[in-house]
Amino acid sequence: MLKIRNVSKSYSKGRVKAVDNISLDVRPGEIFGFLGPNGAGKTTTIKMITGILPIDSGTITVNGYDIEKEPIQAKMNMGFVPDNHDVYERLKGIEYLNFIADVYNVPAEERKERIDKYLEMFEIKDAAGDPIKSYSHGMKQKLIITGALLHKPPLWILDEPLTGLDPKSSHLLKEEMNQHCARGNTVFFSTHVLEVAEKLCHRIGIINKGKIIAVGTIEELRKSEDASLESIFLSLTEEGSGRYA
Ligand SMILES: Nc1ncnc2c1ncn2[C@@H]1O[C@H](COP(=O)(O)OP(=O)(O)OP(=O)(O)O)[C@@H](O)[C@H]1O
Ligand SMILES: [Mg+2]
Repeated sequence: MLKIRNVSKSYSKGRVKAVDNISLDVRPGEIFGFLGPNGAGKTTTIKMITGILPIDSGTITVNGYDIEKEPIQAKMNMGFVPDNHDVYERLKGIEYLNFIADVYNVPAEERKERIDKYLEMFEIKDAAGDPIKSYSHGMKQKLIITGALLHKPPLWILDEPLTGLDPKSSHLLKEEMNQHCARGNTVFFSTHVLEVAEKLCHRIGIINKGKIIAVGTIEELRKSEDASLESIFLSLTEEGSGRYA
C-alpha cells in the first residue's frame, strides 16, 4: 500500500539531513505507528509521502502510484491530516468541506452522507455554518479529519492526529482507524503517545536522527525482554544504535 525506498531529504542546502536513506513497507490492513523524538524526521517523511515536499533521492509509491511521477493518482489514494491546523479560516466549515469534496470529485450523495456522518460523530454539526476562524483548536482538527476522509481514501496519513482531541473524539477516531484497517485499508500515523501506539498499531517504526532504527510488531521490538514500549523507545533513541533494526 505504501512503499518507501531509500528516501533522503536535506534542508538548508544540504546542511541539515532530516531523513537519511529510509525504506519502509506498510501493508493493506495495517495500522502503522511512526514514532521518534522531536526533530527525528517524521513530519519531513510524511510531507514527502503526501507530495508536499520534493524527495531528494529515493522513491515513494502509494497503492502502486509514484508520488512524484503520478501525483494525482497517488493523492487520490490517500487522505492527509497535517500536524498544524492551517485551514481556510474565512470559509464556513461546510464551505471548506464542499470545497475539498469538489477537489476530490466526491459525488453529491456520497459527500452529504460522509459529511453528516463525521460532523455528527465529532459533534460539530451545529458549527458547520460558522466561519472556521471561530472554531477551537480541536474543532479545526475534527473538520480537517472530516475533509481528509471525504473521498474514502484507502491510505490514511495522519501526523499526530490525536493532539488536541478530547477523550471522546480521540476514542472515536481510534475506532475509525481500526474499522478502516479491518476493511483491508491502511493507516500510517505519527504520535508521541506511546500507550496509543502500543494498543492501536499492528507494527511500529522508530525514526531517530533521520534513520529508521527499529521496525516491527511490539512483540518483535521487545525481543526477549519484557519491556514496555516506553522503555524500548527510550533505550533505542538514547543509544542511537540499530540494536532492534
Ligand atoms: N523547513 C525547514 N528548514 C530547515 N530545517 C528543517 C525544516 N523543517 C524541518 N527541519 C529540520 O529537519 C529535522 C526533522 O524535522 P521534522 O519536522 O521532520 O521532525 P519531527 O520528527 O516531525 O519532529 P516533531 O516530533 O517535533 O514533530 C529537524 O532537525 C528540523 O529542525
Ligand atoms: Mg512533526
